[in-house]
Amino acid sequence: MKKACVIGWPIEHSRSPLIHNYWLKKHGINAIYEKKAVEPENVARFIAGLALSEFVGCNVTIPHKESAFQAVAETDKIARRLGAVNTVYVRNGKVCGTNTDGEGFIASLRQQHPDVSLQGNTATVIGAGGAAKAIIGALIDEGVTRIGIINRTRERILGLQEQFGSQIIEINETAAEQALATSDLLVNTTSLGMEGGTALALDMRYLKPGALVADIIYAPLETALLTKAKERGHPVLGGLRMLLHQAVRGFELWFGVKPEVTKELYDLVAADVQKAKRT
Ligand code: ATR
Repeated sequence: MKKACVIGWPIEHSRSPLIHNYWLKKHGINAIYEKKAVEPENVARFIAGLALSEFVGCNVTIPHKESAFQAVAETDKIARRLGAVNTVYVRNGKVCGTNTDGEGFIASLRQQHPDVSLQGNTATVIGAGGAAKAIIGALIDEGVTRIGIINRTRERILGLQEQFGSQIIEINETAAEQALATSDLLVNTTSLGMEGGTALALDMRYLKPGALVADIIYAPLETALLTKAKERGHPVLGGLRMLLHQAVRGFELWFGVKPEVTKELYDLVAADVQKAKRT
């Protein structure tokens, strides 16, 4: 039987098995998708060994995305741009790595808000880590022309400017009001707003009317940022949809079928997120 898995450390809370096993069943594919806790020092060996194993590939989650990038034999342009791999597959006996976080974000946006066009738009991104980089790259590919970044650590914004060029604009506290007033899209890529964690402090009074507000956090399904945005009449996009869409390409690479992100799948994973909250 074919096998795929997700590796991380820890891995207990991963929803990837729920997603992929739903698709396997839906498509009548005789395979199984597992969780594998892999310690940091064993990532390189695990990935190199995939070519000769029962696994057709794996997803990679925190904290292994960078070491997976180092460990695979081949990477594509997107993985190289991010220096991080979240999807590993075997082709012609070679272990290859790609990154689907950026396309997951764009696909989720297209599904939830099919009428929104990003071409020529201005965005504000909160955060400057790995997830921010994936989303910034994808937004630039979609034709977003200006991306303002708000981040606690200034050096990381400068790093993004170096990589992506003058489209990236540093937003400090004094410039935030003006930046928000001209943004068509606001995305939180930090962990601020997660269940049981620190809240994100952002004054949304100045945000351009009608701007789309997105959060990559999916627990809670609707963060305080999104609740506030909805109250102010903004269209919103939660993080769970991105999680589902980033999984699509891995499944297609491993099993040869492009799966769909259906309402049934969304509800299944959303219920699991809710259940975890209660227990
Ligand atoms: P990921 O791969 O999920 O993006 P990361 O690369 O560690 O994770 O990035 C986390 C982001 O959340 C960063 O922008 C980080 O800000 P710093 O660059 O200043 O570290 C931001 N972040 C995390 N915790 C934060 C906090 N308590 N306050 C402000 N920003 C925070």
